[in-house]
Amino acid sequence: MLILGFESSCDETGVALVDASGDATPRLLGHALHSQIEMHQAYGGVVPELASRDHIRRVLPLTDAVMAQAGLPLSAVDVIAHTRGPGLAGALLVGSGVACALGMALGKPVIGVHHLEGHLLSPFLSADPPQFPFVALLVSGGHTQLMRVDGVGRYELLGETIDDAAGEAFDKSAKLLGLGYPGGPALSKLAQQGDPAAYKLPRPLLHSGDLDFSFAGLKTAVLTQVKRLAHAHPDGPATSHLADPLTPVQKADVAASAQAAIVDVLVKKSLAALDQTGLQRLVVAGGVGANSRLREQLNAACAKRKVRVHYPELHLCTDNGAMIALAAGLRVQAGLADLAQGGYHFDVRP
Ligand code: KG4
Ligand code: ZN
Repeated sequence: MLILGFESSCDETGVALVDASGDATPRLLGHALHSQIEMHQAYGGVVPELASRDHIRRVLPLTDAVMAQAGLPLSAVDVIAHTRGPGLAGALLVGSGVACALGMALGKPVIGVHHLEGHLLSPFLSADPPQFPFVALLVSGGHTQLMRVDGVGRYELLGETIDDAAGEAFDKSAKLLGLGYPGGPALSKLAQQGDPAAYKLPRPLLHSGDLDFSFAGLKTAVLTQVKRLAHAHPDGPATSHLADPLTPVQKADVAASAQAAIVDVLVKKSLAALDQTGLQRLVVAGGVGANSRLREQLNAACAKRKVRVHYPELHLCTDNGAMIALAAGLRVQAGLADLAQGGYHFDVRP
């Protein structure tokens, strides 16, 4: 059972082929990715129209590359999968359109995959895949959720952000420091040179007793801190960026303090979710799962409690086609996919 998957929800074009034969965990046979980061950098964020156009340019050459890696012709593919949402409508339509066109041309079924299910299941492509049940911490640019996962398609939401996502908190803090886009990795890199205890920033909802998150207030606190430091400097804020008057040490300290605040909340709430469910396994997925401070702190806290933590391979933390092909494969194996042919309409769910 060969499944070709397309991811085009935002600023990465991803294509991958997995073998989901029998009951064995699907195996990756080929995968290719093109990141649009460089193209969007000049604008300080993703420009949806440019994203859609670039997906169109990249998707077929990437598909050829994946089939060449696997040494197979397109006609060998049994099922075609694409990200159905959430994401940018125009961007999603590219993956969906290509998947439906290929499905129709090859006479193969097409299935839409939820982007977050792709992230959630992505650790199953690692050398040491998790076993069900587990608690999942899903931390991406658009979502922050804790879930109880009992099997493929058996997900119970335990808590989620009531405003900004963790990735957004990273990105917005980075922007306030003039670090550009994408902010998460840049802020994390700068934070390595800073003191995480330099500035006292809020840990929103840390003691709320539930498993919800809130990160919007943190952004305001970072803004206030940057303004305070900028005004304390003789140059004042009359430069092109608010954070320009800050010294490199001050910037690194703000970055480290912001990162520490975000990570503290994510770790504390993940542990609370493990307590609440009584489960002994944690899966961390989504772009923020690449953050090294988050990994260090979760690893240390979980080692103490004899809880196993699973991450996707580092290169599969952010958006990619492999997780979409994998999620489709696991759904097919679990009997949850509608494999009827002919429904080749572009049904995206932005
Ligand atoms: O999962 P993802 O690639 O896309 C979405 O589905 O949103 O996540 C992207 C998010 C961005 O907010 C990015 O800044 C953040 O993940 N991110 C990180 C790191 N790498 C990516 N945040 C903190 N530290 C990182 N190393
Ligand atoms: Zn994503």
